[in-house]
Amino acid sequence: MIADMKFFLDTANVKEIAQAHEMGVLDGVTTNPTLLSKEGRDPVQVLKEICAIVDGPVNAEVISTDCEGMLREARRWAELDEKIVVKIPMTREGMKAVRKLSEEDIPTNVTLVFSPTQALIAAKAGADYVSPFVGRLDDRSEDGMDLVSKIIQIFDNYGFETEVIVASIRHPMHVVEAALMGADIATMPYAVFEKLFEHPLTDLGLQQFLADWGKLKR
Ligand code: E4P
Repeated sequence: MIADMKFFLDTANVKEIAQAHEMGVLDGVTTNPTLLSKEGRDPVQVLKEICAIVDGPVNAEVISTDCEGMLREARRWAELDEKIVVKIPMTREGMKAVRKLSEEDIPTNVTLVFSPTQALIAAKAGADYVSPFVGRLDDRSEDGMDLVSKIIQIFDNYGFETEVIVASIRHPMHVVEAALMGADIATMPYAVFEKLFEHPLTDLGLQQFLADWGKLKR
């Protein structure tokens, strides 16, 4: 059994990360080129700020598509902070880079995983993490969580230590299903993270408790 299910925030927004960190249940951050581009600031500076807030892994993705370029970028990202995990796309060149980086002890997260064979290859190449994108599969009438379940079974069958990051999460039920399947990590937008805390019956119940306490003659 896994000791803990980890919550990562899927954002490059420092304010959101600081707010989630204050809650005391944030274990890491995933960024990607789109998320960093949204911030409109120097990505190196943004990642430095994220690393200063978060205690766990901070994912930064390479832009190159050839192995040599990926290796160059990965080594540069890794020098930034010891928390950096380098995201490498699930391509042939990417897998060559993952093999090399695992020999250099630079942690990798294979991203854009959409099939069980892609996850298996990433694990065989020595990836520390794989990221199946469940929401993007659901968007195409495919079953994203079914992919996660298959990956977990395959990794269990062979004792791969590669951790499964359930990515492209769209709503809290993705997080619930990920937890039921025993996925290692769920990475989610801040809006989904916020929803995990909420239930209207909690608010109503608290309101009632406080109102009743107020009636007590003391
Ligand atoms: C994962 O690491 C990716 O950054 C992310 O989950 C992609 O999600 P999206 O499909 O919402 O863009």
